[in-house]
Amino acid sequence: MSSRTIQVSPFDLVVFGGTGDLAARKLLPALYHRDLAGQIPHDARIIGVSRRPLSREDYGRFVCEALDQFVKPADKNAEAIERFIARADYQPADASKEAGWPELAKLLSSGADRVRAFYFAVAPELFAPLSQRIQQFGLVTPGSRVVLEKPLGKDGESARAVNDAVAEVFNESQVFRIDHYLGKETVQNLMALRFANRLFEPVWNSTHIDHVQITVAEDIGVGDRGGYYDTSGAMRDMLQNHIMQLLCLTAMEPPDAFEADAVRDEKLKVLKALKRIDDRNADQMTVRAQYRAGSVGGKPATGYLDDLGREDSQTETFVAIRAEIANWRWAGVPFFLRTGKRLAKRTSEIVVNFRPISHNIFDQMAGRVSQNRLILRLQPDEGVTLEVTIKDPGPGGMRLRRIPLDMSFAETFGVSNPDAYERLLMDVIRGNQTLFMRADEVAAAWRWVDPIHAAWIHNDQRIHTYPAGSWGPSASVALIERDGRTWFEDAE
Ligand code: BG6
Repeated sequence: MSSRTIQVSPFDLVVFGGTGDLAARKLLPALYHRDLAGQIPHDARIIGVSRRPLSREDYGRFVCEALDQFVKPADKNAEAIERFIARADYQPADASKEAGWPELAKLLSSGADRVRAFYFAVAPELFAPLSQRIQQFGLVTPGSRVVLEKPLGKDGESARAVNDAVAEVFNESQVFRIDHYLGKETVQNLMALRFANRLFEPVWNSTHIDHVQITVAEDIGVGDRGGYYDTSGAMRDMLQNHIMQLLCLTAMEPPDAFEADAVRDEKLKVLKALKRIDDRNADQMTVRAQYRAGSVGGKPATGYLDDLGREDSQTETFVAIRAEIANWRWAGVPFFLRTGKRLAKRTSEIVVNFRPISHNIFDQMAGRVSQNRLILRLQPDEGVTLEVTIKDPGPGGMRLRRIPLDMSFAETFGVSNPDAYERLLMDVIRGNQTLFMRADEVAAAWRWVDPIHAAWIHNDQRIHTYPAGSWGPSASVALIERDGRTWFEDAE
């Protein structure tokens, strides 16, 4: 065990959707990594639950295959894998029937005094019936908590229904609404950078910051998730949650402590201060678009409709928004948000663009004095870059040049960062809600997003197209250029 790894308390983690894609791809590998690091006590159990009639041995094989497929070869350790598989148990059960639940209750009864976490890695329609069954079979103990995966509803109303149903069984301090972006290292570093350094906070406002860009670009298409994605779109799938959380952490006031409610109170204030976008201004403030065939990384890529196997769909795979936060700190500073699938490359970053210097003492020969930029890279190659202007080295007079002060976490620390789910799963067991969303935050995010969706429909707002492998539609370029700014990658 590394000296900085503190073991968590013994726990039973019940994963509903235990044979699903999220469990295989993310949850089981994340738990395995924490186990490998020595963070999981020897008697902790992972109990997969799904409708599939599997035995404990079958599930062991499923876990083994998941690790084989989704754990890097360098992290595979036969002994650790065996130990991990021995933790896994399985119980078939279905929220719509009573069968299987008494057996699950029996399985759990031997761990009544330990932390018990129910992970809902299933469609949100099942959150209410699962909660009811958990209550019906008396499975909620004082050490119980529940983890809700997104999407949390498809609008404010459905999110409220889900939250209300869960609240009948669990109190708010037991509910962990996961947004895996909050577990990303750079996102947590954003808070460290802002609140553990003297340097940034005094200039973190409209006096010094010109605008902020938040981009979450993916090169993948919808793949085989088309059925879900087409009912969601980029706005619900990425913007309402991940991007708005990044926006909150970038813009929030310093909380008085790094504690769950203090942080979440401040995030909530940002969401409440977002200027409303609706039928009156959605055309100017938002762009939605869908990818067509093109090429990504030199390889041909199909269009969204082909991926979906349909002739028509009005679902956006790209969205760009010019947002504003109407408060003292940020008045007049645009926040440009964008996300899309099948874009030129996978990259997520927050780019804070500072204002020009107030007076230039250099003559024309020195060249342009560039504005400072702070770039927080979430992925790939997580790190922070501060762009500063310096003198070009050597003779030839004063010539100015912008250079990056670059910090790549992988290079600096010599390790690659843990997956976001590792941190978040351990926080669930520790009972630390700081990196999880409170019900009122989710509601406030929908309150901003719902009128935009409504405006797209009322105004019959055009859905643009863009070739796969591009940076989105030209309308997205126009959105930012109308303001006299350019998207970060275009400026390079
Ligand atoms: C998920 C979305 O929440 O985040 C996916 O549903 C998306 O559509 C994924 O691909 C992106 O996550 P990451 O960590 O790969 O950036």
